[in-house]
Amino acid sequence: MRILITGSLGYVGAALLSHLRDRFPGADLVGFDSGLFADCLTTPGAAPETLLDVQHYGDLRDIDASLLAGTDAVVHLAAVSNDPIGARFAPATDAINRAASLRLAALAAAAGVGRFVFASSCSVYGSAEGEARREGDALNPLTAYARSKIAVEDGLRAMDRAGMAATCLRFATACGMSDRLRLDLVLNDFVAAAIAGGRVEVLSDGSPWRPLIDVRDMARAIEWAILRPREPGGDVLTVNVGSAGRNHRVRDLAEAVAAAVPGTTVSINQDAAPDTRSYRVDFSLFRELAPEHQPRVELRGSIGRLVRGLRAIGFADAEFRRGDRTIRLNRLSTLLRDGALTAELRWRARAAPGHSAAA
Ligand SMILES: NC(=O)c1ccc[n+]([C@@H]2O[C@H](COP(=O)([O-])OP(=O)(O)OC[C@H]3O[C@@H](n4cnc5c(N)ncnc54)[C@H](O)[C@@H]3O)[C@@H](O)[C@H]2O)c1
Repeated sequence: MRILITGSLGYVGAALLSHLRDRFPGADLVGFDSGLFADCLTTPGAAPETLLDVQHYGDLRDIDASLLAGTDAVVHLAAVSNDPIGARFAPATDAINRAASLRLAALAAAAGVGRFVFASSCSVYGSAEGEARREGDALNPLTAYARSKIAVEDGLRAMDRAGMAATCLRFATACGMSDRLRLDLVLNDFVAAAIAGGRVEVLSDGSPWRPLIDVRDMARAIEWAILRPREPGGDVLTVNVGSAGRNHRVRDLAEAVAAAVPGTTVSINQDAAPDTRSYRVDFSLFRELAPEHQPRVELRGSIGRLVRGLRAIGFADAEFRRGDRTIRLNRLSTLLRDGALTAELRWRARAAPGHSAAA
């Protein structure tokens, strides 16, 4: 089996590569990434891409059809991958997340790829008071990022797939340790702040709901999507991925982190304006379709592994939110300021990392 993984050098990519190598030891695993965060490693060990058969460096907007030849499954993670980056780089978000993703899907279908797994997001529900949101409920995208995810879901449904089955995994907010850790995610931010500064600062009043999923459970869901039978679910399936027990209030996350890192204080901003991104998600379709691939990592497990992982790399940077190692928007801003990237998030040739190098 040959699996092409775009976004292989990302936060989720790192966890996925080790999971897929473990589950499919004989598979041909091929990575594709432009390497925006290639040197942002957070492991004392080998870089995760060493688990691949080959890592290609390139821009998704230019990906060549030849890379898809003989491929059984595409796992498409590459994206401008959060709301703040989407807001700052809206045209690039549309060009990469929507247009280039749909072009990739069309190339995959034309090459006879059997499975296309798309990393969508629960952010498509936006602000959603009341009942937990199900897949058929009205969407309320608040950002360019969320709109781009909906456009790809719709495009996959409408296109000529030539027999290719597509699965859109609407992931809950990711959390947990990875060899390319991001600290611009709520739980990861809290744990890093506790370890480096002994203090968790909740910017909202702590009441908003956040559905969370550990990156290891995201990898297990992707494995399911690669292998799932076409029925039930159908040729194009959109499914929320997470679990009922992991819809948390932000203040409960902060308290759980404080309990796990002794000496941590929690400050909650009681005067904060209401957070518009509060939503709960219903994961019962995923439970029904993928009983063997349900999330297993509990909140305590995610926190514990983050604590151990951060300690293993000697993490002590209380100013990490200003830095450009783990905060994606800061990293892109640095690359832009240094002239390494264009405003379209393309590398200038002299700065581009790697060239289709074997891993
Ligand atoms: N992290 C989350 O909370 C979360 C939740 C739901 C869905 N997702 C989705 O999962 C996927 C992976 O997320 P992540 O957290 O690993 O993101 P990430 O930002 O860590 O990784 C994305 C990768 O895509 C690559 N990339 C970006 N633009 C590219 C381009 N033009 N050409 C080639 N490569 C490009 C980057 O270099 C990076 O390595 C994304 O599609 C994201 O939207 C993430």
